[in-house]
Amino acid sequence: MHDKISLVLNEVKQFSAKNKEDLEKFRIRFLGKKGILNELFASFREIPNEEKAAVGQEINALKLAIQDRFEKLSQSLKGSQEQEKAIDLSLPGPPIPNGARHPISIVRTQILQIFERLGFNVSLGPEIEDDWHVFSALNFPPEHPARDMQDTFFIQKDPDILLRTHTSSVQVRVMESSRPPIRTVSPGRVFRNEAISARAHCIFHQIEGLYIDENVSFADLKQTLLYFAKEMFGEEVRIRLRPSFFPFTEPSAEMDISCQICGGSGCNVCKYTGWLEIMGCGMVDPNVLENNKIDSEKYTGFAFGMGIERIAMLKYQVKDLRLYFENDLRFLSQFKSAY
Ligand code: PHE
Repeated sequence: MHDKISLVLNEVKQFSAKNKEDLEKFRIRFLGKKGILNELFASFREIPNEEKAAVGQEINALKLAIQDRFEKLSQSLKGSQEQEKAIDLSLPGPPIPNGARHPISIVRTQILQIFERLGFNVSLGPEIEDDWHVFSALNFPPEHPARDMQDTFFIQKDPDILLRTHTSSVQVRVMESSRPPIRTVSPGRVFRNEAISARAHCIFHQIEGLYIDENVSFADLKQTLLYFAKEMFGEEVRIRLRPSFFPFTEPSAEMDISCQICGGSGCNVCKYTGWLEIMGCGMVDPNVLENNKIDSEKYTGFAFGMGIERIAMLKYQVKDLRLYFENDLRFLSQFKSAY
């Protein structure tokens, strides 16, 4: 009996299972109803009484060894199956999530494309500017409040080097380097010393436009902006122009569109006026043309400027401007676009 048990023990130790079938063979051979273990227990009865205690212990030890081996074999089989899964080269790779363009980029591209369809080209200029291009060439008087440190970020005083407060500075550069007819739109980042809130930021983006040719009239300005508003906000949008003031345009106006939320009947977004202000505009002041050596007797022009964040807020009904600057993916990934 003793020899038989140690033979079985040896066999158990050496048994290896390459797959589930091997494991099942092991189970049937050693643990099955007609398996070796039960066979040994059955023959235990015929053992002389004085040997029973010792043999009983041996069989019990064998039983534990078999169970232990079975457990180990099935564990290692599971492990190797998992490993096989992990390196299955035929599985498709993990998906790469698509990125999304920033909403400001989407809206900028959209606005530029509308004006490109009207024959405007796109011009770019530096963010760090001098006094001439941001203020003086644009007919700002020396005491104008925009030249104050409270409104403008100065990098250096005398000569003044500053962060541009509008992209009209780019238009001055275009007037310097080319002759009419000029049709250009200038997108870019601008800087103003303002407290950051839901409605204002010290950095934002603008698109400004300039059109100079013979016989350009206020009617051309109005028609161009009406076309823009319809392309941007839909056929049913209405515009209105309110008299305003800018040093570089005369006459000047502020353009409103009919409220996109309530359609003009009045809501809290338009403060119950039915209108939303979206840009400044006007006929280029003759002084600006002369400052840039363009004959103001021969040429006239119009200019306009808008904040991209403002247009994007209206388009997407975003209530807090700061979201555009925080780079929170939960916000940004909501904007999908073909541009
Ligand atoms: N430059 C003006 C601004 O930044 C906008 C504007 C542009 C107004 C052109 C009139 C004409 O607010």
